[in-house]
Parts: sequence; structure tokens; C-alpha cells
Amino acid sequence: MNPSGFAVAIDGPVGVGKSTVAQQLASNLHMTYIDTGAMYRAVALFNLRQGTDRHDATAIAASLPHIEIALTPAGAVLLNGEDVSHEIRNQLLAEYTSTIAAYAPVREKLTQQQKHLAANAHVVMDGRDIASYVLPWAQVKIYLDADVKIRAQRRYDELQAKGQPADFARVWEETLIRDERDKNRAHAPLVRTQDAIYIDTSNMSPGEMLEAITCHVKNKLVRKDG
Ligand code: DC
Repeated sequence: MNPSGFAVAIDGPVGVGKSTVAQQLASNLHMTYIDTGAMYRAVALFNLRQGTDRHDATAIAASLPHIEIALTPAGAVLLNGEDVSHEIRNQLLAEYTSTIAAYAPVREKLTQQQKHLAANAHVVMDGRDIASYVLPWAQVKIYLDADVKIRAQRRYDELQAKGQPADFARVWEETLIRDERDKNRAHAPLVRTQDAIYIDTSNMSPGEMLEAITCHVKNKLVRKDG
């Protein structure tokens, strides 16, 4: 239970556009943005660099005491003090992350840290299990969704914009595989909680998504103050 903080939990599948909208929302409302996906990616990067097989759950669990992750107020992701904000965004790492995010010890470590980060702060936190496991007390819970083909297209466009080579059919297939893993893993799978506001963003621009979520948050803040 959080004694004093205000939290907006934003969950949803890969490629739905959570991070962009969550980051913008946090900035507009002067709240702290916590990108939980980046934390899973940092754990993956540490292990990838060690040459660990992503399917070796025992080795991944053994690496955890050697990993310290921090998110700076400016939005950088630090892995044992090193700024890895750019390196964690590459495609190869996305696959690796999706596999290791299913391991219970990884989830336990990061969930504890995420709960701690949100205690006594005002946060916008995005991920897969924020409303269900990390911050079940969050005052605002949003579940963003979109048609899988549209999400694959958004990811493809993002990669193109970053100059990373991509093939649409491959991106689409990877999106389906990651959906499958996120929704069907044993520990903290992606679920839409009963109390979350469901927003289908298939036909929405990032600006419209931001407007819709801001409206829900402001309503809640007005009711809290009133
Ligand atoms: O949102 P993203 O693509 O940066 O997330 C990277 C991976 O981490 C993705 O495979 C899902 C996983 N993840 C998770 O399991 N739980 C979270 N709260 C956030 C991300």
C-alpha cells in the first residue's frame, strides 16, 4: 500500500505506444516517469554481454546480485552506473528481454525496485503488470490496446525512423511471439484488470492517446482534491 503517492499505471502489449504517451503525460503533470520495460532490457543487456544463453534461467538468476539499475531524473537508464539508454533499444535485445522477463527471480527483483520507486512519489509507470502486480493501489489504471497489425506497423515505422533495418513480415511475427509470451507466462502475465480503463488506440494518434489519458487522470485528481 502506498501511503502518500499518486500513481498512474499504464499497461498494454508491445508496440501500443505506451512509453511515448507515458513519458509525455509524466512531463506535463510534473510526475516521475518509470519505464519498467527499460529495466527488463537492462537485465537482458547485462546477460547478453556476458554471453549467457537466454534460455539458461539458472545463470540469469545467478546474475541478478551483480546488476544494479537506476533511472535518472533526465530519463537515462543506468546499468551498474553506465548509461545504456540507447543500447537497450536494439531489436536483438528485445527478443532476449522477452524471454528473460518470464523468469520469476528477474520479476521479483524488478518488481521490488519498482514498488520502492513509486513509494512516496508521484509516478507514471508503464509496463505489462503494473496495475495487476506492481502497483495494484494505483489511483489511475489504463490498459492500452491496438490491433496487432497496427502495432507491428508502428514498431516497423519506429525502426525505420531510427535507421535500423527491418522487414515488416518479421516485425509482425515478432510482435505475435512477444504477445504470446507476455500473455501466457506463469509469473505476472499481461492482463487487463477489471478496474482498468480500456482504450483501443488502433485509430488514435499519439496526441489523441495523450489527451484521453490526461482526461482520466485529471478527473481522478479533481475527485481526490474535491
Ligand atoms: O515495453 P518494452 O518493449 O520495453 O519491454 C521489454 C520487455 O520486457 C518485453 O518483452 C516485456 C517485458 N516487460 C515485462 O515483462 N514486464 C514489464 N512490466 C515491462 C516489460
